[in-house]
Amino acid sequence: MSHRIAVIAGDGIGIEVIPEGLRALKAVTERFDIALEFQTFDFGSCDYYLEHGKMLPDDWFEQLKDFDALFYGAVGWPEKVPDHISLWGSLLQFRRRFDQYINLRPCKLMPGIKSPLAGREPGDIDFYVVRENTEGEYSSVGGKMFEGTDREVVIQDTVMTRTGVDRVLKYAFELAQSRPRKKLTSATKSNGISITMPYWDERVEAMATGYPEVAVDKFHIDILTANFVLHPDWFDVVVGSNLFGDILSDLGPACTGTIGIAPSANINPEGNFPSLFEPVHGSAPDIAGKGIANPIGQIWSGAMMLEHLGYQKAADALVKAIEAVLESGDAQVLTPDIGGNGTTQSLGRAIAERIAADISP
Ligand code: NAD
Ligand code: IPM
Ligand code: MN
Repeated sequence: MSHRIAVIAGDGIGIEVIPEGLRALKAVTERFDIALEFQTFDFGSCDYYLEHGKMLPDDWFEQLKDFDALFYGAVGWPEKVPDHISLWGSLLQFRRRFDQYINLRPCKLMPGIKSPLAGREPGDIDFYVVRENTEGEYSSVGGKMFEGTDREVVIQDTVMTRTGVDRVLKYAFELAQSRPRKKLTSATKSNGISITMPYWDERVEAMATGYPEVAVDKFHIDILTANFVLHPDWFDVVVGSNLFGDILSDLGPACTGTIGIAPSANINPEGNFPSLFEPVHGSAPDIAGKGIANPIGQIWSGAMMLEHLGYQKAADALVKAIEAVLESGDAQVLTPDIGGNGTTQSLGRAIAERIAADISP
């Protein structure tokens, strides 16, 4: 069986890391005899916007809905298009219309990478952020009044639905239950945000009754960010609303040395629509065009895509190849964000070659 994958590079370093993601996927699918068929689209980028006045064509949903997965680079180039226009016109549409309500983001300190947190070794940091991905603080409910006057008011509501909260909590509890430590941490702020966050806490408590083996704790988001830095070893599965999950999923990878390696899976677990796989990082205009972006976030996202498509062994082999190359510590190969003087391509090639060299599936 062949799987159809839609590829959208987007902007900035998205254009540089996507080829390395594809190179690694080609190497691993060849080795495991998996058939992926790639189709590239130029929409979902700021250059497309400059030409067409919109981020996506009107029939984008029809064009993409029957793909088995979407493989995305990064989008956004604030000098060309304001961020809220480019992001709400592309990535956030995909997440919402394809009901990708889980954003799964692993945070793992890899061998060979030095954590900025003193004394932390691989094994000390190994958790998942499970981020609600379709509602919460990222709502389109609100408006602007009395524009341009002293009485100007802007309002944007947080929306939590029972369905929306319960389904992300259920996913997070199931994940915690499947892991050896069986621990779930909820990100809250029910001391200050007095309606939605107490509701979130209430739903966590209700869901917990169905998972007696899972140890549950919760922290307000402010101290939780501190604990990510001070005690990253406390965490196993961390579940949060859309905004809290966003913040935690940059902070977590930063604690593991660089956000350049962090992957993410925007999942529609029911499989009604394609899921989307992309690095956590953005288009990084500050380093775009220099050929030094770390491609591991993109490559690891490819491994998450393989896992989602049912190819666990191939996904594991790909992650192992990433680890082996990182562990080798070859400065000629590694990108500058992880202490090397190599390039996007040297690191991507080394990972693809490692997969090809490893003949025992
Ligand atoms: P960013 O993630 O693009 O960059 C933050 C910092 O991390 C920069 O210094 C950058 O050089 C570095 N960095 C990021 N990825 C790296 C990599 N692979 N290798 C080495 N260094 C890397 O975040 P930002 O600067 O806040 O945003 C830039 C643009 O990207 C904005 O338009 C923003 O809206 C967009 N963005 C898009 C996504 C996405 O597509 N999912 C995610 C975040 C930000
Ligand atoms: C992410 C990004 C996006 C988000 C932005 C670019 C809209 O930061 O994927 O983490 O906030 O979800
Ligand atoms: Mn983010």
